[in-house]
Amino acid sequence: MKCKVCKDTAVVALRSHNSAFCAKCFKAFFRREVERGIHAQDMLEPGDRILVALSGGKDSLALMLELSLMGYDVTGLHIDLDIPSSSAVARRHVERFCARHSLRLIVKELKGEGLSIPLVKAALTRPVCSACGKIKRHFFNKIAVDGGFTAVATGHNLDDEVARLFSNTLRWDVAYLSDQGPRLEGENGFVRKIKPLWRLTEFETANYAFLMGIDNHYAPCPYSPGATFSTLKGLLQKLEAAMPGRKLDFYQGFLRRGRPAFAREQAELGEALTPCSECGYPTSSGDHICGLCRIRRVVRGKVSETLR
Ligand code: AMP
Ligand code: FES
Ligand code: ZN
Repeated sequence: MKCKVCKDTAVVALRSHNSAFCAKCFKAFFRREVERGIHAQDMLEPGDRILVALSGGKDSLALMLELSLMGYDVTGLHIDLDIPSSSAVARRHVERFCARHSLRLIVKELKGEGLSIPLVKAALTRPVCSACGKIKRHFFNKIAVDGGFTAVATGHNLDDEVARLFSNTLRWDVAYLSDQGPRLEGENGFVRKIKPLWRLTEFETANYAFLMGIDNHYAPCPYSPGATFSTLKGLLQKLEAAMPGRKLDFYQGFLRRGRPAFAREQAELGEALTPCSECGYPTSSGDHICGLCRIRRVVRGKVSETLR
């Protein structure tokens, strides 16, 4: 197979784009898609200081490398979750990657906050994943605000976004459907959130990471069963194989037509943000206690229980 651009031997075939590329032209394609993703959503302006959330996986490391090569002002942020036999390996990958490419890195240890994920897991009766996500998002935002960053970027790709959209749609979750997307405006104490890889599939990011020699962390989280998302991703893979390009069409259609309609419906509910009565952070919760403080309370309860 030949590269569609330069006719050299192709190394990556992309059915959704009806294309095949050699390594050099694939990297150029990847750059173009990131640029299109950023510009189509007005994600960044000159002078933006971007905090890139780095899990150690291929997507976030690929995002960090590409944004830095494009000349953006980027700093990495890794949250060390303190999960035995997993967090130390992920952190090492992030630290090695940033050192190798001379990129700035901030590491936040949840242990220092009394919020080690195993401790939170032990305190909760439900699966820890959504609490873990809440804790991570809280610190992405807090560290960005405190450090004067103007945007937080995560490595979510098209497959992540479409699987989440599918899951939100199956539940017709208006609150989530009204603000799911690759760009969330910063307001009321929240920094702008962006997902510049939203046009690229997991397959494309994996190829980019491989071709750029990125040494990423592979192992899934030991606490995350991930079953629902894998099932949804599997279904969407089948759809994409039968109808190449449908995943991106579906997602773009949602951004153009679906999301504004859900946002109007949600706006009618008029959920106001108020400061959390414990930490001052903005929250929409009726009892004025933010998600993080709620988790802290549960964990504290568990700690004193075991001390008693
Ligand atoms: P996931 O929900 O694990 O698929 O992660 C989605 C995105 O969240 C990743 O691409 C990263 O940008 C970010 N992320 C996840 N875990 C961490 C972490 N421990 N530290 C920093 N960023 C993270
Ligand atoms: Fe948070 Fe697994 S990454 S529970
Ligand atoms: Zn709070």
